[in-house]
Amino acid sequence: MSADSLTPRMIVERLDKYIIGQDEAKRAVAIALRNRWRRQNVSQELGEEIAPKNIIMIGPTGVGKTEIARRLAKLDNSPFLKVEASKFTEVGYVGRDVESMIRDLVELSVNMVKAEEQEKVKAKAAELAEERLLDILLPPKPLERTVGDLMADQKTVDANEEATLRSHDTTREKLRRFLKEGKLDHRQVEIEVAESRPTPMIEIFSTAGVEDMGLNIKELFGNIFPHKKKRTKVKVPEALEILTQEEAQRLVDMDKVTKTAVARVEQSGIIFLDEIDKIVGSDSPHGPDVSREGVQRDLLPIVEGSTVNTRYGMVKTDHILFIAAGAFSFTKPSDLIPELQGRFPIRVELNSLGKEEFIRILTEPRNALVKQYIEMMATEGVRLVFTDDAIAEIAEIAALVNERTENIGARRLYTVMETLLEDISFDAPDMEEKEITIDAAYVREKLMDIIEDEDLSRYIL
Ligand SMILES: Nc1ncnc2c1ncn2[C@@H]1O[C@H](COP(=O)(O)OP(=O)(O)OP(=O)(O)O)[C@@H](O)[C@H]1O
Ligand SMILES: [Mg+2]
Repeated sequence: MSADSLTPRMIVERLDKYIIGQDEAKRAVAIALRNRWRRQNVSQELGEEIAPKNIIMIGPTGVGKTEIARRLAKLDNSPFLKVEASKFTEVGYVGRDVESMIRDLVELSVNMVKAEEQEKVKAKAAELAEERLLDILLPPKPLERTVGDLMADQKTVDANEEATLRSHDTTREKLRRFLKEGKLDHRQVEIEVAESRPTPMIEIFSTAGVEDMGLNIKELFGNIFPHKKKRTKVKVPEALEILTQEEAQRLVDMDKVTKTAVARVEQSGIIFLDEIDKIVGSDSPHGPDVSREGVQRDLLPIVEGSTVNTRYGMVKTDHILFIAAGAFSFTKPSDLIPELQGRFPIRVELNSLGKEEFIRILTEPRNALVKQYIEMMATEGVRLVFTDDAIAEIAEIAALVNERTENIGARRLYTVMETLLEDISFDAPDMEEKEITIDAAYVREKLMDIIEDEDLSRYIL
């Protein structure tokens, strides 16, 4: 089902598969997503007027802010870009660099649409590639005419010629059958491939200034040094793959791709502005940092809606959805410049996580840590079993360490699990015993010393 038709309830359900708790934040992003579908379905005149309800997610570190945005992007087909707001305060950034996030988003969208279009022509491309490969395996002979052509010609044909052609056609069909059956997989063929140009050097020199002029250095150079073809020998399956790729690229209409991609950014792009709290507050009196408030001012037009010049044309940012996130431990959203505050009307708080949440985070999500370790060990032929009380113990220890040292949220589970399983992880390939049960006693044995020594846990967990 297209993400467009997901109701808020369905969106939350999908997020639930990965993120424990944080219901308020999930609801907010679900509504924001649905609102875009609604906007596209009201009259065009009104739709133009409806601004996205941008969101600020507020919460301590490691409680799922980024995770929610990441999962949202995966379930939605929208072009999604995550940027750290703080990067714009770094040395070397000038105000208009903020626009680079729109350029990046468009770039991403183009790649996305291109991949979709190529997927659509895949079957056709595969057919063409097969023909090309057959041409290579058995070069068309001798008159580049098929029997069909000859019939159509109605000329009297030399019986000899017809026979050669017929046999050529049969050979081709035979080869085709072999190809399909994989009987040619071991054979090498020589094909011509476009050489991928190494461009890293050029990338370094590509500055925002140049991009502003609507130029693309890579393309410029690409035209100066035309696509070089080189002949290379590859096995048949690889050749098929390369040729299919080439044909797919040829079949896709790049103009259409660009148009769709830009439209998609304008209508349903999402930008996740992480670390927004880092651009709030007083500027450090020294240091070469760009003023934080300056960055907020630079962000303003983009969030408010403006037109950004990209190499794919002008892009309007009016309807792009912005989701900002920050810990705001020393500052508040109200410390943002007023104009920017107004553009983020929805505020949601994420809760800090405790033992109960940790138990669920360890076991419930599709990608839960415990599942990850079990699968990883399974590759070594070791069956890892966690008892319920072991999980509870791990969760409790993580919560305890968070309380005593620094609260880093669910990230604590990673360090605790890693320490807990270090020995097993190291020994797994050499183990005689192929089943290991981790119970509460094992957890305590491995971790108690570290927990009891606060300094030690500060370093290790
Ligand atoms: N509520 C949750 N449910 C499941 N997993 C979570 C949850 N919160 C955090 N995690 C896990 O912890 C990791 C860190 O979370 P995340 O990156 O979302 O933190 P954050 O809130 O963005 O923190 P920061 O402010 O440091 O950026 C994630 O990879 C995720 O696996
Ligand atoms: Mg984050």
